[in-house]
Amino acid sequence: MEQKKRILSLIQPTNTPHLGNYLGAMCNWVKMQEEFDCTYGIADLHSITVRQDPTKLRAQIKESYALLIAAGLDPEKSTLFVQGHNPNHSELAWILSCYTQFGELSRMTQFKDKSQKHPDNINAGLFTYPVLMAADILLYQADLVPVGVDQMQHLELARNIVQRFNGIYGDVFTMPEGYITKSTAKVMSLQDPTKKMSKSDENPNASVSILDDRDTIIRKFKRAVTDSETEVCAREGKDGIINLMSIYGAVAGKSFEDIEAEFKGKGYGDFKLAVGEAVADKLAPLQAEYKRLSEDKAYVEACMKSGAEKAYKISRKTLQKVQKKVGFVQL
Ligand code: TRP
Repeated sequence: MEQKKRILSLIQPTNTPHLGNYLGAMCNWVKMQEEFDCTYGIADLHSITVRQDPTKLRAQIKESYALLIAAGLDPEKSTLFVQGHNPNHSELAWILSCYTQFGELSRMTQFKDKSQKHPDNINAGLFTYPVLMAADILLYQADLVPVGVDQMQHLELARNIVQRFNGIYGDVFTMPEGYITKSTAKVMSLQDPTKKMSKSDENPNASVSILDDRDTIIRKFKRAVTDSETEVCAREGKDGIINLMSIYGAVAGKSFEDIEAEFKGKGYGDFKLAVGEAVADKLAPLQAEYKRLSEDKAYVEACMKSGAEKAYKISRKTLQKVQKKVGFVQL
């Protein structure tokens, strides 16, 4: 049998995922479980490049992990782990940092953005963040990495590191490729449909958390910014309506034509209500499963533990190979 390709991705535990994270990333992760050998992690090490409240962070790590399971990732089938539970990440990151140039890291746009946003805390971790991300990917010999456009530059850096390292020592690392799914719905802010939905938006009505209750979801969709026309159709300039149509299409499995036909002669009010209800329906099973998991902490902890063990075992092989190649003494 041909070996399945390995997919790897991590998410930061700093916010409860919103509808955009869910439709854009999490749903695809679940689908990919059938076809690929999947490794998904919670990037707690990355999250402390920005100051975090420890109590909140601890809760968020647990929440993010349980949400992966609630969304449909199977801890038996895939490797689900917390990055900080596997010391191999930090160890490889150190070694790789010696194969990464200062100039390369200085060019990372996310570093430039984040140092502007947090001028009082431009720490070395923020600078070497992409090296840790390269270690995450290379430790597991990942073939494919599903990432958004904002992480493409970091993936490109990981690829440069592979080329450099393999050029010196032979085939140590698999060359990772970006994996972009066509079906991915891009979800925009409900208050400004020209901007991506973001949890850090100051307006709470701009984004829908996947743990928002039904009434909240419906209320946010009722308040979504549209335009002064009345027709539900995907015409140029109707960004708000197009955003709602693509959300509705993604959660209800309908095409734009279906949606236009369904709401012909009806107003925006009916349409917004329908989208809100469809989103709430779609999220209901995930929320119920999350609630069940919150009441079964022992199970979630056991999953974390076995995920960490699986992750450690796979990645230790790579780390030992690297240690040997660079000339460390192994005991
Ligand atoms: N940096 C990524 C983000 O903020 C998260 C991440 C960490 C990641 N390690 C990774 C993504 C490895 C893909 C592969 O979104």
